Amino acid sequence: RRGDTDYYDLTARQAVAAVIPGLRTPIWGYDGVFPGPTIETRRDRRTVVRLTNGLAAPTVLHLHGGHTPAASDGHPTDLVLPGATREYDYPMTQRAATLWYHDHRMDYTGPQVWRGLAGLFLVRDDEEDALPLPKGEREVPLVICDRSFAADGTMPYPGVPGKPGAKEAYMGGVLGDVTLVNGAPWPVLKVARARYRLRVVNASNARPYELSTGGPIVQIGTDGGLLPAPRTLDAVRLSPGERADLVVDFAAHRIGDRVELRDLADDGRVMRFDVDRDAPDDSAIPAVLSKVDRLDPASATVTRDFEFTSGNLHGGTGWLINGKPYAADRVDATVKLGATEIWRFTSDVSHPIHLHLAHFQVLTDGAPNPEWKDTVELREAQTLEVIARFDGYPGRYVFHCHNLEHEDMAMMATFDVI
Ligand code: C2O
Ligand code: CU
Ligand code: CU
Repeated sequence: RRGDTDYYDLTARQAVAAVIPGLRTPIWGYDGVFPGPTIETRRDRRTVVRLTNGLAAPTVLHLHGGHTPAASDGHPTDLVLPGATREYDYPMTQRAATLWYHDHRMDYTGPQVWRGLAGLFLVRDDEEDALPLPKGEREVPLVICDRSFAADGTMPYPGVPGKPGAKEAYMGGVLGDVTLVNGAPWPVLKVARARYRLRVVNASNARPYELSTGGPIVQIGTDGGLLPAPRTLDAVRLSPGERADLVVDFAAHRIGDRVELRDLADDGRVMRFDVDRDAPDDSAIPAVLSKVDRLDPASATVTRDFEFTSGNLHGGTGWLINGKPYAADRVDATVKLGATEIWRFTSDVSHPIHLHLAHFQVLTDGAPNPEWKDTVELREAQTLEVIARFDGYPGRYVFHCHNLEHEDMAMMATFDVI
């Protein structure tokens, strides 16, 4: 830390991790770990991440959910070559939220994230600190992703063009058969009979989750930070790239209870909480969490339509936006700096849609939901409208499907803010 700026050094490099007990798994990790080190900063504190590429391949660092100047956004073609060091400068003029960082190399994001290039990035602020939410060891990040392992411990990536299984991999996206939480399969966390805050990131390449503990879950936040008020859910749906900030009260259980977090979408275990002690709990979930202004649809100057469909690329499988594959030198939308716009998405199959730079609000019957998202699941044959204000920084940004195989197979487009 120097002056009002926080500096972090990250090195992307190969390493060997012990993911599955008894096996050695080669990974690509930030600082050689998977997930990468958690970066923690505060609203309005300039944060500089100095990335050294110790890999033999180019990489790009993107802060997902960051309100970031274009030069530091990690554009897919803005490569950090092997051996090079690059500074990413984040002003952090944004509210407290659970963000994450990951590789964003054009055409190779899927395999490079699969190998391990992803980590958690927390932004805190005074508004959130003043709330009596669970803190310290009762604030637990859960970075959830799926991987598959070969008998020798490696995590083979099937989506290699020309290899068997590649076409399927690029249709549905690459799925694993082992769920990892913070890099470990089906971990167990010992908990007190108290409230815990779980900050969940779906860091999977392609798998959506529907998370359930079998009891009530209170959602307090989403991609862009706190909700205006808590909401109680039976299950939390998270598509790739999305985050959910949750509170679970283990005081509803007895000592000795084992509470499983399960994925109802695939009927699988994610992790387990073993309730092993009584403990005082002075946390609470306030009825009012935050003030979230709604963007005014009447202030939108432009409405754009984007259709997400499958297509045939070079005789193989591809994914298109408005009939076109991503082209780095084509601008698909030119947005005025400071403008509010409505973007209407339609789909054939389901796609998690993610915008860089601008957080948005989903419109329901034309009215914005008071919560900030940067990724939203567009379900099969659905039409979804979102409203966003493109303020802060001019420059070149992308939006794309966050199924990473769809992204790599060209379901990405460019918008310029001018
Ligand atoms: Cu999380 Cu453009 O990506
Ligand atoms: Cu992003
Ligand atoms: Cu998609």
